[in-house]
Amino acid sequence: MATARAYTNIALIKYWGKRDSQQMLPWNSSLSLTLDQFYTETKVTFLPKRSQQQQDEFIFAGVAQPISAKVTRVLSLIRQQADLTNFARIETDNHVPTSAGLASSASAFAALAAAGARAAGLTLDQRQLSILARHGSGSASRSIAGGFVVWHAGHDDQSSYAESLLPRVDFPIVVIAVLVDQRPKKVLSSTGMAQSVLTSPFYQAWVNTAEAGIETMTAAIKARDIPQIGALAEANAMQMHATTLSAVPPFTYFAPLTLRIWELVQAIRIKGLNCYLTLDAGPNPKLICARQDAERVIKALQKDEPQLRYTVCGPGPGVTYIEQTK
Ligand code: DP6
Repeated sequence: MATARAYTNIALIKYWGKRDSQQMLPWNSSLSLTLDQFYTETKVTFLPKRSQQQQDEFIFAGVAQPISAKVTRVLSLIRQQADLTNFARIETDNHVPTSAGLASSASAFAALAAAGARAAGLTLDQRQLSILARHGSGSASRSIAGGFVVWHAGHDDQSSYAESLLPRVDFPIVVIAVLVDQRPKKVLSSTGMAQSVLTSPFYQAWVNTAEAGIETMTAAIKARDIPQIGALAEANAMQMHATTLSAVPPFTYFAPLTLRIWELVQAIRIKGLNCYLTLDAGPNPKLICARQDAERVIKALQKDEPQLRYTVCGPGPGVTYIEQTK
């Protein structure tokens, strides 16, 4: 048995579209920051052959749940690599401060890949773990590593993996998660991205722009230039969302309050406070700014939207193993 902890990440250059959904290969490379506030802890136990258990077991927050096809896919890959046929018990918990709206498949599949591989007796390096996590959820490939992380799109299973660009972030960048709505998303990211790929006339332009964005974002990170990182991330997020507005039929992840926050962020910026917005496949925006400005940004937003929850996240670590206590 083994237990692993993995943190969520926020993409600054987004992954939005698969060119191979069997192998989980993306159309473009993406770049993220692993966050230090929200994580998943997962314990995997391979059951002895003589055990009564005749199938895999999945226990979330202490409650048995049906096992999803994605979890089974990751488990099958682990069993194949380790030459095992035993069933597994997966016990998992999400550690997300009360309704922060950042629960994510990224931390879940990164923790599952790491714990599962070790429980099966495999010794995988970060690159191999990232490949394994990618088969559960694309963004999970990036939660294996800490700090700023790039997922190389690659061209086949082994060349599509994520690695740290800057594992120890030595400058004060933070991400403020704003909770505007805690309901589950209306259009799952995998469904939304498939719609964009198939029907948006802007899709090819998205792929080209995102791919070019990796280079400019990497340069901004190396220069420790927080306003430039923020500006590039905001532009990239809006380019991604343009492929949903231009899909047939069109759809959007923006809620009225999301748009309101964006308006306020732009107004704050005009007043000289550097702050930028990014948005994934849901209505809860994430704001990028310097740690020393976070309080002022939150105060400015609270003036108009006092009822919302704001959580300040710093850069987080890659996946780690937790020692067994029992
Ligand atoms: C908008 O990784 O959740 O958050 O690979 O289908 O599981 P699947 O999708 P997922 O998509 C993440 C999309 C995104 C952008 C990103 O994190 O890069």
